[in-house]
Amino acid sequence: MRVERRPLADFTTLGVGGEAEIWTVETPADLVEATKAPYRVLGNGSNLLVSDSGVSERVIRLGGVFAAASLGRPRAPFHVTPWLGAGALLPNLIQEARQKGLSGLEPLSGIPASLGGAVKMNAGTRFGEIADVLEAVEIFQGGSFHVHHPEELGFGYRRSNLPPGGIVTRIRLRLEQRDPAEIEARLREVDEARKGQPKRKSAGCAFKNPEGDSAGRLIDRAGFKGLRVGGAMVSYEHGNFIINTGSARATDVWKLVKRIQEELSLELEWEIWGELL
Ligand code: FAD
Ligand code: EPU
Repeated sequence: MRVERRPLADFTTLGVGGEAEIWTVETPADLVEATKAPYRVLGNGSNLLVSDSGVSERVIRLGGVFAAASLGRPRAPFHVTPWLGAGALLPNLIQEARQKGLSGLEPLSGIPASLGGAVKMNAGTRFGEIADVLEAVEIFQGGSFHVHHPEELGFGYRRSNLPPGGIVTRIRLRLEQRDPAEIEARLREVDEARKGQPKRKSAGCAFKNPEGDSAGRLIDRAGFKGLRVGGAMVSYEHGNFIINTGSARATDVWKLVKRIQEELSLELEWEIWGELL
């Protein structure tokens, strides 16, 4: 196990956030030790806005056995995967599935999540979400590991209802063997739908889409694109992305969020860590 004090800006895709004590756990015994004081769990930091003053709780990152994942030898027609470490990155698994002719993860192409973060947020696109392909979820809670059926976990649009303090440690997926050309075609379709999104530093969409509409379209129509506070800016490419142009602070990003919410009634998709003024 490694314990270090580091800025969370180094661990988030938006690249903002102050210091915290980061506990990278590698074994079940590490996890037991790390959870003896108040904690938060960090995945790939791709849906987080972290305060400039960081957080006081321990920040747990899943390494070692919790980050190992391989889809195994494909079985037809249905393939239930071995247990996959929740610290592993979703894009790597999507590549492995593509190479092995395993279908089911294509709707998640382009989402820079860890498996655990994808489960917590029920990551998805209009083509599907991770809950659609979950077979089982192992959660560490109250000092021990419990296996849950996905139906127990309250999945909805970009939400789940994990037990309090629960850390997703491993998951199993239910995939299908398919013609590789069909998988390629699906991946292309999903990637095409993402073409309008900026490539610059961001945490994905800031707000959830309201029922039947798109937050990006509403923000665009309200004229917020290009609005800047310090180093943060509402992307010209897609209104629901706030980008870090290089030197943004969490307070800059937060001012933009508040400014948009003064005018539009939108619910944040991001998770907020620490105090924001
Ligand atoms: P983090 O951001 O690290 O954490 C998010 C939340 O999950 C936190 O509450 C954290 O405590 C919790 N968490 C993390 N790991 C665990 C765990 N093991 N156990 C319990 N809780 C945990 N999202 C979509 O849904 N669809 C998209 O199309 C999409 N596109 C994106 C594009 C870009 C360029 C970016 C930067 C982001 C995008 N996102 C998208 C947002 C983001 O990738 C997802 O919300 C993702 O699921 C977050 O996963 P993460 O591992 O980065 O979690
Ligand atoms: N639009 C505009 N202006 C903009 C942005 C969008 O007019 O600045 C319009 C588009 O022209 C389109 C509509 O709004 O007609 C929808 O836009 P888009 O296809 O980009 O989809 P979205 O609803 O904005 C959702 C998810 C994304 C996901 C894409 C692709 C949410 C909040 N967003 O975006 O997820 O990648 O679909 O499926 O659900 C995320 O959750 O972080 C995320 C990026």
